[in-house]
Amino acid sequence: MAVERTLSIIKPGAVAKNLIGKIITRFEEEGLQIIAARMIHLTPEQAQAFYAVHRERPFYPELVAYMTESPIIALVLEGENAIARNRDLMGATDPSKAMPGTIRGDFAKSITRNTVHGSDAPETAATEIAFFFSQADLCPRAC
Ligand code: CMP
Repeated sequence: MAVERTLSIIKPGAVAKNLIGKIITRFEEEGLQIIAARMIHLTPEQAQAFYAVHRERPFYPELVAYMTESPIIALVLEGENAIARNRDLMGATDPSKAMPGTIRGDFAKSITRNTVHGSDAPETAATEIAFFFSQADLCPRAC
């Protein structure tokens, strides 16, 4: 299995509810390493650009409004098979379909307010990491 990097976002509702620590604990207890972290209050232009792949979807305006309502935490997670492991930790996009014990299953309120985002493939992970971080921001370390 390859060592991968993936972008995680702790979304506005979760930051506002003081869930940062609980969510980061899940990543760390899974054995994923946080190699970069940043708090940012996205502008509408930034949120539109990050989610540009969804711009034709009916939920796009609501998604952009939610992602700009208060600050987010952007994280880079590193580990073997990190993309799939993070997606397993998150659970289904729609929290009504997410299993108990997953982040969305335990904390999310709706498909828009679904607590966390995670990259879905190596190519998107690279693009999404570069959206928030430069190479110099990444701090990989030996286990
Ligand atoms: P995320 O993993 O951040 O990727 C895109 C986001 O769009 C997704 O989480 C949801 O918050 C949102 N989304 C996806 N599908 C729908 C939908 N059918 N209705 C509303 N929001 C959606």
